[in-house]
Amino acid sequence: MALLSGRRILITGVSRGVGFETARLFLEEGAELLGVARDAARLERARQALDPSGERLSVVAAELTREEAPARLARAVEARWGALDVLFNNAAVQIDGATRGVSTLPESVFQQSLAENLVAPYRVTRALLPLLRRGTEPRIVNVSSGAGNLESMQMVDIPSYRLSKWALNGLTLLLAGELAGAVSVNAFDPGWVKTDLGGPNAPGKPEESARGALALVTLPFETTGKFWKDGIQIPF
Ligand SMILES: NC(=O)c1ccc[n+]([C@@H]2O[C@H](COP(=O)([O-])OP(=O)(O)OC[C@H]3O[C@@H](n4cnc5c(N)ncnc54)[C@H](OP(=O)(O)O)[C@@H]3O)[C@@H](O)[C@H]2O)c1
Repeated sequence: MALLSGRRILITGVSRGVGFETARLFLEEGAELLGVARDAARLERARQALDPSGERLSVVAAELTREEAPARLARAVEARWGALDVLFNNAAVQIDGATRGVSTLPESVFQQSLAENLVAPYRVTRALLPLLRRGTEPRIVNVSSGAGNLESMQMVDIPSYRLSKWALNGLTLLLAGELAGAVSVNAFDPGWVKTDLGGPNAPGKPEESARGALALVTLPFETTGKFWKDGIQIPF
């Protein structure tokens, strides 16, 4: 039997990489999806590839750092389902380049990383929370990274990316505590995989990340406030 039959799921960053492969697997498992990305043409190509009939995947093109974007997503979910079962906060950027050390990073990069990878999922979560509260065993998955665990804070490369994911892990814990019993909130490490963000030297494939994502969203609802990779709990 399909594992996600009838589950109503919003995935950000659906047009490429981890989000695209996760959408493909979730559709195979019977989910209904609303997919988000910023480049409308690429998003439409992804929709065609994933669900040519358009029956189970609808899309909204949105730049998630824009003030009005979270409310637009909430309106789209309200119109389609009136409730939401899973919010998969996946969209992010890694824009540190070759900078080594947070003290020498251009301030604009620092600000942009936090805006895209922390503030945007925070604001999307706030906007969608009333719809999640109407969902069935509702869950939030924050797509984090192994680059954002505590141990990684001793590294000098990709500093604003690391910090944004560490803070996203903190947000996961705060929300999990606050929403215990109402909405499950977990962090997810998709592993280092070949995507535009992961680069060509990554050892894994986003299809493997998708399997980890499926394992996480099918855990018992009571599972909350934890960090997961490949269906296994890992340390924050
Ligand atoms: N790949 C890895 O090795 C790896 C490792 C650890 C964690 N992760 C995490 O996994 C997640 C997915 O990464 P990925 O490798 O699949 O990245 P990717 O291939 O670069 O794809 C990023 C996706 O996010 C969307 N996006 C980015 N910023 C956005 C914004 N401001 N508004 C709307 N959409 C936005 C992009 O949309 P457009 O196509 O419109 O630009 C695209 O669909 C991220 O959270 C990343 O940090 C990845």
